[in-house]
Amino acid sequence: MNDLIKEINELRKEKDAVILAHYYVDGAIQEIADYVGDSFYLAQKAREDPRRTIVFCGVTFMGESASVLNPDKTVLIPADDAVCPMALMADRDEIKKVREEYDDLAVVCYINSMAETKTLCDVCVTSSNAVKIVKGLPQKNIYFIPDQNLARFVAEQCPEKNVIPGYGFCHVHHYMEPADVEQMKKDHPGAQVLAHPECNAGIIALADYIGSTKGIINHAVESDCDEFIICTESGVEHELRTRAPEKKFYFAANQICPNMKKLTLEKVRDCLKNGQPVAEVTEEVRKAAMIPLERMLELGK
Ligand code: 13P
Ligand code: SF4
Repeated sequence: MNDLIKEINELRKEKDAVILAHYYVDGAIQEIADYVGDSFYLAQKAREDPRRTIVFCGVTFMGESASVLNPDKTVLIPADDAVCPMALMADRDEIKKVREEYDDLAVVCYINSMAETKTLCDVCVTSSNAVKIVKGLPQKNIYFIPDQNLARFVAEQCPEKNVIPGYGFCHVHHYMEPADVEQMKKDHPGAQVLAHPECNAGIIALADYIGSTKGIINHAVESDCDEFIICTESGVEHELRTRAPEKKFYFAANQICPNMKKLTLEKVRDCLKNGQPVAEVTEEVRKAAMIPLERMLELGK
């Protein structure tokens, strides 16, 4: 074991800390994490784990949500500049405007959003539970923010609802080129295409399976097929290769989230040592953002 990992392990014990890592962060961090998963799984673990300190290795909205859900715990975010651009793409005035237009409306907020936005919403969702939660809502009209691609996917899966999409997008998934996937399909005709619902419509049209990062990984591991074209951030390759070393996975060249890659083992060590950066939310925001997040944990089970 190298010195840096030894130091992290000692600090983790001393500070009574649990380390959570999203599948998109560097493999070296995934290897030392207590839990690795998609957004929903990590939000659940942040709530369930009894340790007093949470080190959230992901983008800042993830740490913020963990902080909202755990007022009595300290949530450390090793890279406080790892901001998901999509999380900033919801317009608070627009939410108020749409609320005035419809009586029978639920504002559904993808967890990839800042806590202040969540305060104006009825329920949060992640990519793994969005369809289930929207289907179960009593309202017919669903204002789905901020991701236009996940909104389109939910609309297709829930034809009984009137889904009004936001205008946000994830630059990693939105700008994937269908032509690149078509070329990979030609090169590997037996491969299945597995796509995240944040992908653009052209990629989704080529997909054999659509799901969250955890869904994609589980599908690839459990499927009889042994070759896959993976349409999501390339950090999932670490878990795919660990759980299915005999299978083949193909990625396009540009599937990298630069913000998730800001997390390093050194920053994990430093935040444990210094007790910062901390995910900060005001008491007022915490109280209001807690409602849609708790609803998600309840309805998404
Ligand atoms: P999931 O973790 O829900 O698959 O979402 C992917 C994502 O883009 C996180 O930023
Ligand atoms: Fe945000 Fe996209 Fe990066 Fe996820 S992959 S954190 S949605 S920019």
